[in-house]
Amino acid sequence: MNQQSSRKDTVLVTGVAGFVGSNLALALLEAGYRVVGIDNFDDTYDPAFKEAQIAPALGNPDFELMRLDIREKAALAAALRRAHPRFVVHLAAKADTRLAVADPHTYVDNNITGSINLFETIRDVGDVENTLYVSSSSVYGNDPDIPWRESAAADRPLSPYGATKRAVELFAHAYHHNFGMNITCLRYFNVYGENNRPNMVPYKWTKALLTGGVIELSGAGTRKRDYTYVGDTIRGTILAMTKPFGYEVINLGNNRPLSLTELLAVLEKVTGVKANVEARESSKASVEETYADISKAKELLGWEPVTPVEEGMARLVEWFKANRL
Ligand SMILES: NC(=O)c1ccc[n+]([C@@H]2O[C@H](COP(=O)([O-])OP(=O)(O)OC[C@H]3O[C@@H](n4cnc5c(N)ncnc54)[C@H](O)[C@@H]3O)[C@@H](O)[C@H]2O)c1
Repeated sequence: MNQQSSRKDTVLVTGVAGFVGSNLALALLEAGYRVVGIDNFDDTYDPAFKEAQIAPALGNPDFELMRLDIREKAALAAALRRAHPRFVVHLAAKADTRLAVADPHTYVDNNITGSINLFETIRDVGDVENTLYVSSSSVYGNDPDIPWRESAAADRPLSPYGATKRAVELFAHAYHHNFGMNITCLRYFNVYGENNRPNMVPYKWTKALLTGGVIELSGAGTRKRDYTYVGDTIRGTILAMTKPFGYEVINLGNNRPLSLTELLAVLEKVTGVKANVEARESSKASVEETYADISKAKELLGWEPVTPVEEGMARLVEWFKANRL
């Protein structure tokens, strides 16, 4: 399709070598899109993992990788002009809640300044049909009014990471208002699956179970997370990409939170290994529960998750065995 493809088919994906980005790139290629991916292969976790994650896309004639940093405005603008995409999916960000507490400036630079560079360029180019800004459930902080709905104020994040994610949602609205840009903010909830980011609990625990390590259990194990299989998240992302709404904020979560103890039971069952558990102190930036109300995603996108957690975690475990052992 490369020969005949027009800009109609092109999607620019930032953060393309990351966990979600690499899965999204392959799904878009599979669906017949041309994909131009941007990533700076930062060292939040081993860049070699990112190289391996994006390797399967590199041989595809409809895929182009641009190794650049979205903080470099001129380089980003040149890349976007050259790619001339119809759709933009903006995933590039620093995404570690704990590290953000220790180093907020880095999060402001990458997540806020980098996003504004991108919005400025999209505004300049002028004919991008729809932009997705990938936000996070962390914008809700510890809001006790669960399940969380998009209409919540979301003005009490616990981590500077969540604060940067919320700030960019607000900037997105201003860009929509002033320049008529279509931007949808997707709030992802605890995504897991193939190419899982290594600093997330499902990965860390899979690794511990399969390599004889210790499971660090925060607090009493009662904290709950709305774990969402990456395949479901990506299906929702592609649906949102093709539907410009002006400005919208949409939760993409599983709507079935699992406690840490319940997650451990699932992983023990899937791996067939009994965990060696050690208690660990909870981080203050860690919320009690994440729980998405997904009625808006159902209504606007016709989306709902379909992968049961046991099936999704089994895929994570199989992927880990094939790629990390
Ligand atoms: N994984 C989740 O559960 C989850 C939940 C909520 C929101 N999100 C959001 O989804 C997006 C993707 O997350 P992920 O889990 O795939 O994380 P990830 O760290 O695996 O991917 C992010 C990618 O962005 C790249 N990147 C970072 N800063 C960059 C910069 N300045 N210029 C160019 N590239 C840069 C990194 O190298 C990395 O490959 C992030 O915006 C994150 O905040 C993820």
